[in-house]
Amino acid sequence: MRTPSTDWNPSLYLKYGRERLQPTVDLASRIDLEAPNRIIDIGCGPGNSTSVLRGRWPEAEITGLDNSPAMIERARQSGIEADWIIADASTAQFPGEWDLIFSNAAYQWMAGQSELFSKLRSNLMPNGIMAAQIPLFREMPMSGVISEEAIQPRWNFGAGNGHLMIHSREEYYDILSGLFEHVDLWVTDYIHVMPSHEAILEMMRSTALMPFLAQLEFEEDRRAYEKEILKRIGREYPARGNGKVLFPFRRLFFIAK
Ligand SMILES: C[S@@+](CC[C@H](N)C(=O)[O-])C[C@H]1O[C@@H](n2cnc3c(N)ncnc32)[C@H](O)[C@@H]1O
Repeated sequence: MRTPSTDWNPSLYLKYGRERLQPTVDLASRIDLEAPNRIIDIGCGPGNSTSVLRGRWPEAEITGLDNSPAMIERARQSGIEADWIIADASTAQFPGEWDLIFSNAAYQWMAGQSELFSKLRSNLMPNGIMAAQIPLFREMPMSGVISEEAIQPRWNFGAGNGHLMIHSREEYYDILSGLFEHVDLWVTDYIHVMPSHEAILEMMRSTALMPFLAQLEFEEDRRAYEKEILKRIGREYPARGNGKVLFPFRRLFFIAK
């Protein structure tokens, strides 16, 4: 029986590892740094994004930082050569200066990103780069699925609970251009071909649905909640003729110098 958790579940998260890794591969391939000495991966999770950085820059000193003990434990067990730190990026002081401050799919969980980016900017080497991918979740039907179910009185979710903190692409440009001389931004829709609606539910269970499920004390309520989410997923993402379901996932990338 599943129990509600306020920490991340690395195994469930990695179940859709291929889908989650491609944006890191794409972002890392566009970073124009020959041999950075020091790299930090903010919100490194189980180390999947960090492994791509290690592959691209084998000689670099790499640190993975995450505030989830379960994720850092999994990263430590991964065997990826890196230093692992449990810390909240919003409040942590970052030791020293970095050539690359990287983050894949993590800033959306952090409040005060404008202040955070400003702090991170001050921790960059003079020719350093800040690179990130943030899902533009609010531009996806899945966001409506979650927010419309969240306001149903039967769940009694507190206002604002669990909502991801994501700016618009214009707001990210404004924040970054106030801090950096050069900002590249782009958006990609990754069209995940899912075997079923249940698979979409399962993929979301380990991320966007997690804060809502964690508020439901009883297994019975969690099942009922997921049943309603599943119905909404079915309406928003009709199955194709072969039974597969297309789940386009929109992601914003930036590289700031
Ligand atoms: C969706 S996962 C991304 C993991 C990995 N970077 C990847 O590419 O798949 C988001 C990660 O951000 C972490 N996170 C959320 N808020 C954080 C914070 N304030 N400080 C540090 N890490 C945070 C979570 O614990 C989680 O591991």
